[in-house]
Amino acid sequence: MAILVTGGAGYIGSHTCVSLLKAGHDVVVIDNFGNSYPEVLHRVEKIAGCTLINAPGDIRDREFVETVLKRYRCTSVIHFAGLKAVGESASRPLFYYDCNVVGTLRLLQAMRTAGVKKFIFSSTATVYGTPQYLPYDEKHPLAPESVYGQTKLAVEKMLEALRTADPEWSIAILRYFNPVGAHESGLIGEDPKGIPNNLMPILAQVASGRREKLTIWGNDYETRDGTGVRDYIHVADLADGHMAALKVLETAGCRTFNLGCGTGYSVMEVIRAFEHVSNRAIPYEIGARRPGDIGEFYANPVQAKEQLGWQATKDLRQMCEDMWHFQVKNPDGYNNSEL
Ligand code: NAD
Ligand code: UFG
Repeated sequence: MAILVTGGAGYIGSHTCVSLLKAGHDVVVIDNFGNSYPEVLHRVEKIAGCTLINAPGDIRDREFVETVLKRYRCTSVIHFAGLKAVGESASRPLFYYDCNVVGTLRLLQAMRTAGVKKFIFSSTATVYGTPQYLPYDEKHPLAPESVYGQTKLAVEKMLEALRTADPEWSIAILRYFNPVGAHESGLIGEDPKGIPNNLMPILAQVASGRREKLTIWGNDYETRDGTGVRDYIHVADLADGHMAALKVLETAGCRTFNLGCGTGYSVMEVIRAFEHVSNRAIPYEIGARRPGDIGEFYANPVQAKEQLGWQATKDLRQMCEDMWHFQVKNPDGYNNSEL
């Protein structure tokens, strides 16, 4: 009896694998390593002090997924595998629909054939679109602006329809806010292939001298200092959110939860916090607004607290400290750094 983790070598998946292994679960990972490295799984094992099963492959390969589910007698699936770059999703929409929507469809078909009906899905706060009110609660209207967000919403709808058609399914849709930070060991963290788009990995690279400066995408938003405000959440807290969601899968249903802290921080506040923990000055310039960006959003996390018994515990300082620790231990990411 095991839990299948798709995308388990990725940023959030790897931290969740650590939590699962430490809690005594058998873990099987399917990852095609399109945005990760097999090395990550060795590090997960090192942190957890036990092994997992690595089944390299693609979630779009239905027969392969079905074989894995049956061979390892999986009882539930936590589904992280997917593409997540908002900008790229606009230039490669079919690639995004294929991986995120068709990929999830093939996975669900394989699960149905294998008789596995417990499922946790990685969704995103991006499904809400322009805020009608803040904080976003789970009832906020859904109007994602990016192709990426639209693929996530399409999957949410597919899951709701599946559960309506077959009440035996037990599904948790988790809408993440802005995941940051790294494991406290400094062994695993965020190391995207290619050029990072997100604030924290860029900040870490600027602080370490790997990049010259940060461009702040706009300082004319209606926020306390004009820069964009987000609800950053430590990846270890996020991993714990999945552990809590696993428990509610014991009863059938389809439920949706925001996973955020409920507090927004501006880009300037994050820069200052990062400077403090790294003891380095972060050179920056003010640029134009990034197309598609929203000035401010943050979560109402009450539903997760009430129904999952989960809430985030780590603050912005801890997020920056762990991010910086990972950067210092792995200056070139997973390439060239040793266990
Ligand atoms: P990530 O890119 O680090 O991890 C995704 C993993 O899935 C990678 O290891 C990649 O190699 C693998 N993968 C991708 N397509 C695959 C396929 N077709 N078959 C098998 N493996 C495949 O991303 P992450 O930050 O860990 O995000 C995990 C999930 O959470 C994604 O679905 C993402 O959309 C969602 N999410 C992420 C964020 C964020 O800011 N990081 C925010 C909201 C939601
Ligand atoms: N920012 C900069 N400069 C940069 C990068 C980011 O000023 O070089 C700013 C952005 O304008 C924004 C804030 O930093 O105000 C955060 O930006 P990120 O790119 O880190 O995060 P986003 O909120 O834009 O999006 C992220 C993920 C999405 C996910 C969303 C909500 O990229 O995939 O969080 O979970 F959907």
